[in-house]
Amino acid sequence: MKDLFLLDPKITYLNFGSFGACPKPIFEDYIHWQYLLEKDPVQFITETGPKYLENSKSALGQFIHCDPNDLIFTPNPTYAINLVVKSLKLNSGDEVLTTNLEYGALDKTWNFYLNKCGGKYVQSLITLPIQSKDEFITEFWKGYSEKTKVIFISQITSATGLILPVKEICIEAKKRGLITIVDGAHVPGHIHLNLKELDPDFYTGACHKWMMTPKGCSFLYVKKEFHQMLEPFIVSWGYDESIQEHRFQEFQQFNGTRDFSAYLTVPAALKFMHDYNWEQKSDNCKNLLLECANEVMEYLNVEPLAPLNKDFFGQLCSCSIESKNPSKLKKLLYEKYQIQIPVIESNSKVYLRFSIQAFNTKEDVLRLIAVLKEIGLGNF
Ligand SMILES: Cc1ncc(COP(=O)(O)O)c(C=O)c1O
Repeated sequence: MKDLFLLDPKITYLNFGSFGACPKPIFEDYIHWQYLLEKDPVQFITETGPKYLENSKSALGQFIHCDPNDLIFTPNPTYAINLVVKSLKLNSGDEVLTTNLEYGALDKTWNFYLNKCGGKYVQSLITLPIQSKDEFITEFWKGYSEKTKVIFISQITSATGLILPVKEICIEAKKRGLITIVDGAHVPGHIHLNLKELDPDFYTGACHKWMMTPKGCSFLYVKKEFHQMLEPFIVSWGYDESIQEHRFQEFQQFNGTRDFSAYLTVPAALKFMHDYNWEQKSDNCKNLLLECANEVMEYLNVEPLAPLNKDFFGQLCSCSIESKNPSKLKKLLYEKYQIQIPVIESNSKVYLRFSIQAFNTKEDVLRLIAVLKEIGLGNF
């Protein structure tokens, strides 16, 4: 399978989670769009490109089960969440309820905007290992108060690589009259996503991770009742206060001249996944991950961060390790042993997180264990 990717064969690539790699057929499609653009930039950017963009958005809408008119492409989930948070217009004293397991850059985003308006970012402390979905849900709502206006939660967490019970949280949030914002950066192409069923108010996902498009292809879903509320993140030609129809699209999609070829590769990514029976491959990866997780945890003599099953684990698994110098460990694993794996510091803990993609084998993980034994983890 690795031959299908452009990855350096010398590298044991156990970090698909940070940046997914792009298979050759999808990358060729990307170059095809860039070539078309340069053949006639004016025609492509103003006439044909926007039509291809609509086509790509329709394909994405079908894949994640939502109306394509409720979607815009964004370069990444960070952009999408910044766009939403900036428009929320929270007041002094308002609270945003979240967990202590969120992506660090987005904690910064929330704190930046909430500091401006006098709002508060309330991170419910989640005890690890999580014992059950119910226990997680109880801990999550402990941070709730009558000042809570919004909930923000990852469907798959970054440092800890856990699938969270977002559906149950969204249902309860609706009962409490809260706005729901879900960070699904790791979700598309990784676990099944049905936005109609999940029914969040805002949802972002990356296509450049597990859907394997080139980098710079992500999306923001916004429920219709919130379209009017969103200000243009970048004010450009699409902005006109009198626009009512397709206001969300018009305000957000055109950000000035840029290469949007990555956005156009969604149909090629979906075709690739279909042609290679990717759903089955992803399921095989999840089985392999559970098997490997057992071996890694046993070697490290640590507990999994949640019950080791497919409710909590997909193709990502983080293990808590003792490390005095995480960045030195990461550097050593890469430079001396060519193992690409993140060593992440979060909440005063250090996690070694491995990803399993279709080209990974059990030997990759066994090699990781052998190297950890050789270097003696305690020394780092
Ligand atoms: C949970 C989560 N949210 C958001 C992001 C941000 O992704 P990007 O850098 O593509 O905006 C990441 C990146 O890994 C992530 O893990």
